[in-house]
Amino acid sequence: MVNEFQQLLTSRKNQVETVMLALLSDADNETDISGLAEAMRYGACGGGKRLRASLVLESAKLAGADTQNTNPLHVAAALEMVHGYSLIHDDLPAMDDDELRHGKPCVHLAFDEATAILAGDSLLTFAFEILARSETHADAQTRINLVQILARASGHQGMAAGQYLDMQLQGNEATDEAQIIRLQSLKTGALFVAATQAGAHLGNPSPRLLQGLQNYAEKLGLAFQIYDDVLDSIGDAKQMGKNIGKDSKFGKPSFLAINSVEKAREKAYALRDEAVAQSKTLTGTSDNFLAQLAHFAVSRNQ
Ligand code: IPE
Ligand code: IPE
Ligand code: MG
Ligand code: MG
Ligand code: MG
Repeated sequence: MVNEFQQLLTSRKNQVETVMLALLSDADNETDISGLAEAMRYGACGGGKRLRASLVLESAKLAGADTQNTNPLHVAAALEMVHGYSLIHDDLPAMDDDELRHGKPCVHLAFDEATAILAGDSLLTFAFEILARSETHADAQTRINLVQILARASGHQGMAAGQYLDMQLQGNEATDEAQIIRLQSLKTGALFVAATQAGAHLGNPSPRLLQGLQNYAEKLGLAFQIYDDVLDSIGDAKQMGKNIGKDSKFGKPSFLAINSVEKAREKAYALRDEAVAQSKTLTGTSDNFLAQLAHFAVSRNQ
């Protein structure tokens, strides 16, 4: 039975995809770059759970964002474009050398490597153009805040740093748990945190709300990545739409490189519980969207 949480997740996913397609629809006004625009849409709009988008929308709601002066879906789309870029580059031969994403050939195989690099670059930069548009938020200082939040989380202080460490530590058997937690917090947690902070900045967030959302998203991001590592070991490749077993094959610094599946699961569940407890302090109930998202993060099959 589809419950209320799943319905809301699906409706938010559909909403953000519609907006992303609309935003990307004029990327190929010039016919000679239509291949690049097509690769951007193929990479960013071809599937995905849209969890980061949902975090933006929920955080905006909790901060009382008024939909007259702001467009939370634009911010959600920007987050998903950065995420889409990160996946396109993550799959490249120079990084994880993957073949399948969302049940289809990766962008570098459906197009070519150069186009995949450029489609990723273009999605990353387009995200910032969207944040800077006045229809995203009427207040210029808020738009600067959004740009700063996403920039910090995407580059050398966030996702790209985590991806760098992920590659540097590949094959290094001496990697310890603290190093893995640090790299996972950067490569995955940083964008989850940014989604909550950017969403909340669309309203009038109290320092307490911002801090609470940050704490929640740090736990969620880590739980999510550890469970991604679990799924790489025991998941169903068909349901996940990506190849599995690659982390151990390539000596990835994943949680499973140093722990059993059971231990990794326990760790993900403990982090989920911390995220749920944090969401309760923000909403007054443990049956709230953020709590359900935390449950979903460590029980999904894709
Ligand atoms: C995949 O993230 C990359 C990781 C951080 C593990 P998601 O599983 O959220 O990607 P999609 O967009 O839903 O496919
Ligand atoms: C990727 O982590 C995290 C990103 C920042 C893109 P993974 O390499 O484990 O993601 P999958 O398993 O390919 O989706
Ligand atoms: Mg990777
Ligand atoms: Mg990968
Ligand atoms: Mg993985």
